[in-house]
Amino acid sequence: MNMKKLKIGLIGAGNIANAHLEAYRKVSDAEIYAVCDINPERLSETADRFGIGRRYSSVDEMLAACPELDAADVCVWNCNHAECTIKALNAGLHVLCEKPMAYNAAEAEKMLAAAKKNNRLLMIGFVLRFSDDARIAEDIIRSGALGDIYYSEAQYVRRHGNPGGWFCNKALSGGGPIIDLGVHVIDLTRHLMGNPHPVSVYAVASDKVGKRPELKTHAAWMPKGASDADICDVEDFASALIRYDNGAATHLITAYDFNGEERAKRALYGTKGGLDLSGGVKLYTTTNGFLSDVNLLTKDYKEHRDMFEAEMAHFVDCALHGTECRAKAEDGIVVMKILDAIYESARTGHEVLVK
Ligand SMILES: NC(=O)c1ccc[n+]([C@@H]2O[C@H](COP(=O)([O-])OP(=O)(O)OC[C@H]3O[C@@H](n4cnc5c(N)ncnc54)[C@H](O)[C@@H]3O)[C@@H](O)[C@H]2O)c1
Repeated sequence: MNMKKLKIGLIGAGNIANAHLEAYRKVSDAEIYAVCDINPERLSETADRFGIGRRYSSVDEMLAACPELDAADVCVWNCNHAECTIKALNAGLHVLCEKPMAYNAAEAEKMLAAAKKNNRLLMIGFVLRFSDDARIAEDIIRSGALGDIYYSEAQYVRRHGNPGGWFCNKALSGGGPIIDLGVHVIDLTRHLMGNPHPVSVYAVASDKVGKRPELKTHAAWMPKGASDADICDVEDFASALIRYDNGAATHLITAYDFNGEERAKRALYGTKGGLDLSGGVKLYTTTNGFLSDVNLLTKDYKEHRDMFEAEMAHFVDCALHGTECRAKAEDGIVVMKILDAIYESARTGHEVLVK
């Protein structure tokens, strides 16, 4: 039996890196071998917490010091995804890169080219694909229970959750909830619709609400170190219609601060049935000629694992055993093209064609 462990170098030691590290602890053939971060405090805090001895102040330093690494996990700000990923691929490592794949589609294309040139795996951190709900939805869709899926709703709306910090600094993030939250639900709905190719996008976006520091209700999602004084030059709301080449469409709504219900709705509508993934799985169908609603018992489905654990386990499996990747860079590029088109349409007020 092959007992080799995958030696992973973590690039970026912030919030999501900590979630990844917790998950890797449960993946027996993963070894967190080294970590780097440009922020010395975050570096030592995370490395101390997880007992990682090899710690470096830059990607270059880590790659030079640890030629024995097999893989890298990129958990840095969006503006640095491409640079860190390409450096790791060129050093011969397999890479898992957090969502969004990059700052824009042009950078994402360069990342895929580097993966191909070096014949390495490049997986994108579309963690929602690894939820139990998504796996149940895939199963139901495969059975044909929805028929032809012609429409989906992709909603990721926070009531009072403008994170501030780097998330709201466009130079570092690329944008607000569109690229931060919308990316998750656009990818998941498109994936469940069978990965149709986008043809056009029509969108609106605004920044009318802002951070609302005057509210007495505490803002959720604000990371350590973020403050109301930080730059905030991103949108806080967007709505978009994404049209696909098979005639299907997705309606996106996403917001950081919104005077409406907080929601994470993913719903698919087909000729035979509909599926709602807004916390659990509900099938709208017919039974013996009657309309019927079926709530599926998700916890009984296979072993109920944490999404991040399932994602990390899959990355390690793909890197070690060549298993086919369930969150490919090619999909990351298509999603980046949709995101770019949403920003362009919102800016110009016109429908934007996606090539
Ligand atoms: N999958 C999810 O649900 C999810 C959730 C949160 C964040 N994310 C993604 O994870 C990434 C990081 O977000 P976060 O919340 O952890 O941010 P964070 O600020 O907490 O952590 C990012 C860390 O990267 C470091 N860094 C930046 N550039 C670097 C570079 N070139 N080399 C080394 N270190 C560098 C920063 O110093 C920081 O410590 C983002 O791309 C974000 O979109 C994903």
